[in-house]
Amino acid sequence: MVKKAIIPAAGLGTRFLPATKAQPKEMLPIIDTPTIQYVVQEAIDSGIEDILIISGKGKRAIEDHFDRNFELELALENDDNKNLYNEIRRISEMANIHFIRQKQLRGLGDAIYYAKQHVGNEPFAVLLGDTVVRSVIPVTRQLIDIYEQYHSSVVAVETVPANKVDRYGIIDGKIISESLWQLSRLIEKPDINNSPTNLAVAGRYILTPEIFKIIEQTAPGKNNEIQLTDAMHTLLKRENIYAHVIEGKRYDIGNKLDYLKTFIEFGLSRQEFSNDLYDYLREVIAAKDEK
Ligand code: G1P
Repeated sequence: MVKKAIIPAAGLGTRFLPATKAQPKEMLPIIDTPTIQYVVQEAIDSGIEDILIISGKGKRAIEDHFDRNFELELALENDDNKNLYNEIRRISEMANIHFIRQKQLRGLGDAIYYAKQHVGNEPFAVLLGDTVVRSVIPVTRQLIDIYEQYHSSVVAVETVPANKVDRYGIIDGKIISESLWQLSRLIEKPDINNSPTNLAVAGRYILTPEIFKIIEQTAPGKNNEIQLTDAMHTLLKRENIYAHVIEGKRYDIGNKLDYLKTFIEFGLSRQEFSNDLYDYLREVIAAKDEK
């Protein structure tokens, strides 16, 4: 059973500077909800009971977000603002959330290594904070279902345009069924002209604890960072790894254009904004077409 999840959240968020100079990128909202809350919700909806967030310097707002705030609760209670009050209370009781700090930013593989003691000898999920997935079955649950069948590590992938392969970890292997691959290779951010496929690692993983021993021996790779992708490639020599093509729509919050698109799509799907936002977008497009 996969009951523990790791959410790495120590990165500097340089792609979103200056917004992330004094606030964690994981707290950037999609409308009114910080992205990390969507990620925590996905973990819980997938059956995860225990979450370890790998935080770092300047990330205290994440801890505060999942903590109680009595002053706020009192104010909302007095204002008779019951829905907001309930939401604020719910967030502070979402899951058993633990924090540990990555002391030096040495890459995703290194961040995951901080979870070694906490995870022990169990398989665990990893959810990266810059990806939100909307799906009927939560994507981490999709991976857990495969883990339960194969008892091997599983990584979520999605097809990306050929000109974007250099932003992601890319897999190679053999196709087993429509949405399942057995891996033969993983490569972090390959050159556009040198990528084995355009199936990109989509920020969700189930890993066996064997990965910790391998990370210990993994040298810095791409961008001089200890890459989880490289450690998984080594893991392939000892264990099978599968890739699951996600069923659902992935929102990449890690770059500005996709973040903007996410905002619009989430806005359009909220009943309170939907009609007005559609009208506004039509106006904007019509005005552009006239030019
Ligand atoms: C990380 C991983 C990469 C993965 C990506 C998904 O890269 O290293 O393999 O495809 O997340 O978002 P990063 O976005 O941290 O550069």
